[in-house]
Amino acid sequence: MFDALTRQPDDPLLALIGLFRADERAGKVDLGVGVYRDETGVTRVFRAVKEAERRLVETQQTKAYVGPEGDPVFLERLWALTTGEAGRGRATAGLQTPGGSGALRLAGDLMARTGTRRIWLGLPTWPNHASIFTAAGLEVVTYPFFDIPSQAVLFERMMEALSGAAPGDAVLLHASCHNPTGANLNTEQWRAVAALVAERGLLPVIDIAYQGYGRGLDEDAAGLRILLSAVPEALVAVSCSKSFGLYRERTGAIYAVCGSAETALTVRSNLAALARVSYSMPPDHGSAVVSMILGDEALMADWKAELESMRLRITAIRERLAAGLSRRWQVLTAIREQEGMFSLLPLEEADVMKLRAEHAIYMPTSGRINIAGLKTAEVDAVIEKFLSL
Ligand code: LMR
Repeated sequence: MFDALTRQPDDPLLALIGLFRADERAGKVDLGVGVYRDETGVTRVFRAVKEAERRLVETQQTKAYVGPEGDPVFLERLWALTTGEAGRGRATAGLQTPGGSGALRLAGDLMARTGTRRIWLGLPTWPNHASIFTAAGLEVVTYPFFDIPSQAVLFERMMEALSGAAPGDAVLLHASCHNPTGANLNTEQWRAVAALVAERGLLPVIDIAYQGYGRGLDEDAAGLRILLSAVPEALVAVSCSKSFGLYRERTGAIYAVCGSAETALTVRSNLAALARVSYSMPPDHGSAVVSMILGDEALMADWKAELESMRLRITAIRERLAAGLSRRWQVLTAIREQEGMFSLLPLEEADVMKLRAEHAIYMPTSGRINIAGLKTAEVDAVIEKFLSL
């Protein structure tokens, strides 16, 4: 029976992890998958996470199931962190999920159940967005978002395309730290998008996976909050992978903002039913850690301080990259204004392969670089390699 299957290509981004590991050259540089690394090249466990884990080991009495919805306290605290005042008092159905990807897949499955047929994705976007929503049975359509040669957000073209969306269509938006471009909407643009989404009766699906890595915890959620305040319904997919450094613990949540408490109960029951036939119940460890941090003043303060120092490190590397790369590509001064882990360079696939073959610099063929993976000490050498192309 299995002979009927055809071999599937590896996910190009995840395959890079293996290719990089297998490269034995000294001084190799990994600008591939989006993980934060410190000045020694290590993705460290946050201090507050370590401390929360220590307390959990000491105090946790059971490993019994948490139930399909997950822990309501975690869900409440994460919602408050993400949405602040804008989320307070909204009728919301939240479900703890295996990472942000699990949240997006549940969002897709839920939309398919409600009869939503199409979702609009900005171009370019995280490649897995299209795969996830297609797998959930939605039709993926696209709107222009970013022009690589000019490094500009194509705001007018985005608005024009979304004006053609049919009522009931879903539209995916990155809350901040856009993956893969690092380019984001300003406040005025968020307001205009919120007004358009509300006026046309579209369902916003907001992916927030890098809160705290761009301009700050509240600043990185500001657009999402503007949008939430303008619409009656929304889906918000939250990932704790980066913000809490919990990547492999698969920690996240999906929230559906609903028109009434009654509807929220119905939506929650649908999300729980969808989870049940997929992975049944979410992993607990990461969310127990996040919940403990968000519920403890001292742990929260320490987590915020560490996250802020990481943000500032990325910002400093952005400055240097912008100064260095703009010597050849004037337009790349934009890297300084972009935010979060990624920028998308105007490179051909052949350039990317040359960097990999000749200089052991690894990045996806799209030209995306993970700035958060760079050590300060290697920035100048990396710039020189790019300039030598
Ligand atoms: C990335 O884009 O590098 C991250 O979101 C990791 C992933 O799952 O692709």
